[in-house]
Amino acid sequence: MENINLDNRLNFAATKRNRDSIAAVLSHYISPNSLLLEIASGSGEHGVFFQKIFPSIIWQTSDPEQAHRNSINSWIKHEGLFSKMPEALDINVEKSPWPITKQIRSLIKGIVCINMIHISPWSCTKALFKHSKSNLDQNHFLMIYGPFIRKEVQTSASNLIFDQSLKFQNPLWGLRNLDEVNKLAFLNGFEQEKVYEMPANNLSVIYRLN
Ligand SMILES: C[S@@+](CC[C@H](N)C(=O)[O-])C[C@H]1O[C@@H](n2cnc3c(N)ncnc32)[C@H](O)[C@@H]1O
Repeated sequence: MENINLDNRLNFAATKRNRDSIAAVLSHYISPNSLLLEIASGSGEHGVFFQKIFPSIIWQTSDPEQAHRNSINSWIKHEGLFSKMPEALDINVEKSPWPITKQIRSLIKGIVCINMIHISPWSCTKALFKHSKSNLDQNHFLMIYGPFIRKEVQTSASNLIFDQSLKFQNPLWGLRNLDEVNKLAFLNGFEQEKVYEMPANNLSVIYRLN
């Protein structure tokens, strides 16, 4: 902990734009003295923000990129949160098993994944549901935030352009169809509980484990 360098902090601009609206959704799903596991925490700016506004829980960050974990840990140190908030875990959703300790497993009540499923292959979305199921109990939740395609709602021009640019970077990336994600959820024992419309044509989708 002492060796963590403040200069490793990264800034992901979007986090400042979406953190308040995501926190407003999360506020409905906070159980005091529990732990929420964040998958794909990126810079860690969301993590420290949520930890500060939800002090009754433990916010456990994770990311498979070493540079991102360094940034997360630097943000935790910068915000003086190390007495409350654990260091970032090295979780790649596709690598089994996720490094979840018995202590985390006993406290966890939900998993939060912001802006990952469209910036990774579909196999990662499959792995996210599969491993979320094995690390959660009945009635626990999985929240996925990001842009989606919905058959009953016209996709915004900005999301269509975003989808094209993602596929240009990697043909396996791209906005996911919400119906397809819901099917995957169902196959893994989750049920779609609620969909929140978020700013900039994003959604927060809450799945509950049956
Ligand atoms: C667009 S960033 C989003 C970061 C952060 N959640 C945010 O909203 O600012 C995508 C993140 O997904 C992570 N990621 C990519 N593939 C992953 C995988 N297989 N398992 C877990 N995380 C992954 C990346 O390392 C990166 O931090």
